[in-house]
Amino acid sequence: MKLVQSSGEIPELKKSNVHIKNEKELIQKVNKIINDGNKKLQIVTDFDHTLTRHTMDDGSMVLTSFGMFRECPSIPQEYKDEDVRLWAQYKPIEDDPNMTIKEKTQHMIEWYIASNNMLKDVVFPRNELTDVGKTMVDCFRKGVKDMITWSETQQVPVLVFSAGLGESVLAAMKAANFLLPHVKVVSNFLDTDSHDKITGIKGEVIHCYNKNETVIKHTEYYEMVKDRNNVILMGDNLGDAGMAEGMEHCDVVIKVGFLGDNVEGNLNNYLNTFDIVLVREPSVDVVNAILKLVL
Ligand code: TMP
Ligand code: MG
Repeated sequence: MKLVQSSGEIPELKKSNVHIKNEKELIQKVNKIINDGNKKLQIVTDFDHTLTRHTMDDGSMVLTSFGMFRECPSIPQEYKDEDVRLWAQYKPIEDDPNMTIKEKTQHMIEWYIASNNMLKDVVFPRNELTDVGKTMVDCFRKGVKDMITWSETQQVPVLVFSAGLGESVLAAMKAANFLLPHVKVVSNFLDTDSHDKITGIKGEVIHCYNKNETVIKHTEYYEMVKDRNNVILMGDNLGDAGMAEGMEHCDVVIKVGFLGDNVEGNLNNYLNTFDIVLVREPSVDVVNAILKLVL
């Protein structure tokens, strides 16, 4: 086992789009994770615009899991129009660098209620979603495949914790062959009636700012990671930084934040929240570089 003296030993951390507020603390965390090894480690990651990229090389935005649902051919036009309208209304609030989390949470709850109401009575487009999932394979960040393979080999559990639509997350992950036994998805899953019409979201709705103890306890994943106190966490939203807070036994969490929207306004907030901030980064190379030190 080889410990790290400075970030200079990890070339991926030296790129110009990589920002670290407290290098000393980060190196201490990395060394604790190396020291404790794979048996004490778990990976917790957001899905939309974290496992997937914000944008492709041509600048086009990558579909979110809600967006994937909207793209299913049988979804009524009124749903599509209203979905786009809600996105235009609430997405700027989610990215607003000046609004407090408390204020944002109120708006996000409104968004999820509106979205939930819209979903009601829509016939669930199962097969179509499988097809849309296949179009997402190239939208994952570069290196996600290596991360999934490494964690499978090292038996490190991966939680995909998404405030998006669970069925879409599963469709994209399945198409990419990432749904292995060590990978679990906690998200918003749809309830349907006997005619396959959507009746709502199962259980408590997960939104951007309650991704923590309220929804993680009592899941199959929680049982899997009871003895794993080190976490590598990845997210693109400030709310994602709290994703491991429901696991009281965790003491070291390396938080990696992907910043893609409103970069200038948000960089400071992200630096205060995440240990490593990656600006407009298409890969998970930084995470893989840290993982490779834990052998
Ligand atoms: P994530 O937690 O996997 O990133 O997913 C949450 C994203 O989904 C967040 O950016 C808000 C967005 N969203 C939609 O795109 N459409 C919706 O209808 C709702 C409620 C949320
Ligand atoms: Mg996200």
